[in-house]
Amino acid sequence: MDRIDRESVAPIIRTRCFGRHLVCLDATSSTNNVARAMALEGAPEGTLVLAEEQRAGRGRLGRRWLAPPGGCLLMSLLLRPPIPPSEAFALTILAGTATARAVERATGLPCQLKWPNDVLVRGRKMAGILCEMSATGDRLDWAVLGIGLNVNLDPALYPEIAATATSVSHELGRSLPRLLLLATLLDELEADYFRFLRDGLAAIRSEWRRRLATLGQWVSVEDGAHYGLAEDVDETGALLLRQSDGTLVRVTVGDAALEYPPGP
Ligand code: BTN
Repeated sequence: MDRIDRESVAPIIRTRCFGRHLVCLDATSSTNNVARAMALEGAPEGTLVLAEEQRAGRGRLGRRWLAPPGGCLLMSLLLRPPIPPSEAFALTILAGTATARAVERATGLPCQLKWPNDVLVRGRKMAGILCEMSATGDRLDWAVLGIGLNVNLDPALYPEIAATATSVSHELGRSLPRLLLLATLLDELEADYFRFLRDGLAAIRSEWRRRLATLGQWVSVEDGAHYGLAEDVDETGALLLRQSDGTLVRVTVGDAALEYPPGP
């Protein structure tokens, strides 16, 4: 098993900003908590927090993030983008797109996204992303991109995720060094982040849209509060659902679970 510690991680980092300020922990509550505390203390953009184990890993929508020690890449990246909070959705979009592309590049596995940014391989979740941020007035102070990527674990051993999750090793039939995935992930995240700051989101957003497995499917969001055909996403990243009565509803938060189409 490869170890996530400063001695092994520092030499594989090829990026100019992301990961240059590096914290590697054996165990912590959540790498997002550590990155957030560091943000408040003034840590620089690109600060990367990695851990072998999280005791209280958090997912989106207040869920738990299960990650057996050693089997996952658990990371949080601190960003300080000069954008207003109204554009923060861009970080969710670029984090999902860059992660999908990085996993595809490092493993050869085709990756899709479940709105907004779960990374799917053959319909099962391989990575999840939790973006947290703080703003003052019309400026973001900081954002933390927390990424959990299942690398070398057998989902069948964990009843909570057995039916819905997958991992790199499960899909490839062999294990892969987490450090290879980390280096590729940092490359893609950094490239997309600076591309976004320089040129805007258009190109990244169209790749995101292309990868969204959710589009064209009947889905329910928030335990059936909204149910409809996922027709498209709008400029802000919201999901547009065509309901059975023909009306269009715009969904900005939640999880899109696949459903059967309505009966005749
Ligand atoms: C989700 O799919 O719900 C998002 C999961 C995000 C998990 C990662 S693991 C590293 C970072 N630290 C956390 O506590 N959560 C994120």
